[in-house]
Amino acid sequence: MEKKVFTVDGVEINRPFQINRLGHFGINVIDPQASLAFYEKLLGLEISDKIDFSQRVPQSLQKLVGPTEGYFTRFGTDHHSFVLFPKRAVHAFNMHYVDYPQLSMNQLTWQVGSLEQVINGHHWFEEQRIKILRSGRDLPGSNWHFYAPDPAGHINELYYGIEQIGWDGLSKPKTMHAVSYQQPPELPHISEFTEVNRALKAGHHLQDGWRRQEQLKETYNVGGTLLARPFKVTKVGPVHLFVEDYEAAKSFYTEVMGLRISEEIVYDGQTCLFLRANTEHHSLAIFPMALQKQLNLPLQSSTLSFGFRVGSYQQLLDAYQFLKEQGQIIVQLPIELSPGIGHHFYVIDPDGFCVQIYFEMEQIGWDGRTKTPHLRREFSASPEDWPLSIPAQSDTFDGEVFMGPLN
Ligand SMILES: [Fe+2]
Repeated sequence: MEKKVFTVDGVEINRPFQINRLGHFGINVIDPQASLAFYEKLLGLEISDKIDFSQRVPQSLQKLVGPTEGYFTRFGTDHHSFVLFPKRAVHAFNMHYVDYPQLSMNQLTWQVGSLEQVINGHHWFEEQRIKILRSGRDLPGSNWHFYAPDPAGHINELYYGIEQIGWDGLSKPKTMHAVSYQQPPELPHISEFTEVNRALKAGHHLQDGWRRQEQLKETYNVGGTLLARPFKVTKVGPVHLFVEDYEAAKSFYTEVMGLRISEEIVYDGQTCLFLRANTEHHSLAIFPMALQKQLNLPLQSSTLSFGFRVGSYQQLLDAYQFLKEQGQIIVQLPIELSPGIGHHFYVIDPDGFCVQIYFEMEQIGWDGRTKTPHLRREFSASPEDWPLSIPAQSDTFDGEVFMGPLN
């Protein structure tokens, strides 16, 4: 690949964008209502908007695909951190899945720091003839973006400017959704402040957006606040993927996307790659497909697992008890497959996805060095063996901070 220097917002780097973090993640599911019973009711993710794909499904298939409604969910101010889309409907209208019928991941979405980075990144992908599926700006969500698959077909999205939801819990009303784009816009673009002013002047009712409904009573004391569950999801990721072509994936995620290698490990004879976007040990891990057969997983998917961080070790203990009491299936995968992540467990969702619940992730600083193994926390894979409290480590409270109140 051509090594060219780009000045991005005044700083020279090897590509015209810099990924700052994993912004959101999505899966395609068989039964969105069953998934909501898990992700909304049990894990506490909040619906920020719904989307009906029925008009996009070819008429001949409309009676065959089942549910057509998808859900954007959040836990913080980002409009969505996790999306649930109806698999059969999405596969019926999105031609990308013709080539990847087994794909169950919907999107792996990376935040960059400016609209210019998205647009220039789009041009750079085009120049190098790297496949782009679509681009522009979608609502719900308001983010500017383009979508590009990795060599195994996993759809990556680069975005800037996702809608922020504040104290009133309201997403933008549908009447404001007309500012979407099907292609990159001309720059510079007007600010969102000006867009909102225009909407107000046009008489839009800003309070007509979606606001979540809580199904459970708020009976759990979480750090002094009453919540409906004894924990709060405060971050999405990491995502762990299987690929057939390890080297092709490594090249795509490092040279094209610019993720940095935290470490490569060998597990059961297979080399596994851990990549970071910021200071957390890894936002994404790549595993050879051969390992899938060795792990005896509940779902034959190229998504090995995806994570949700909860707010504290206490919340992690309480989340485990809560999910166990709710009859959820909790499994253990080898700890070696999650270097840098402290105590964690996996709960199985209705489709069979492994959802990794944890609270602590090793943070990597300016010199790019991971901890030496003897500095890493030792713990049992079984939550039944975990102590009631643990000593702090140097980076236990470091990394991305959850903003705002827990509810
Ligand atoms: Fe997205």
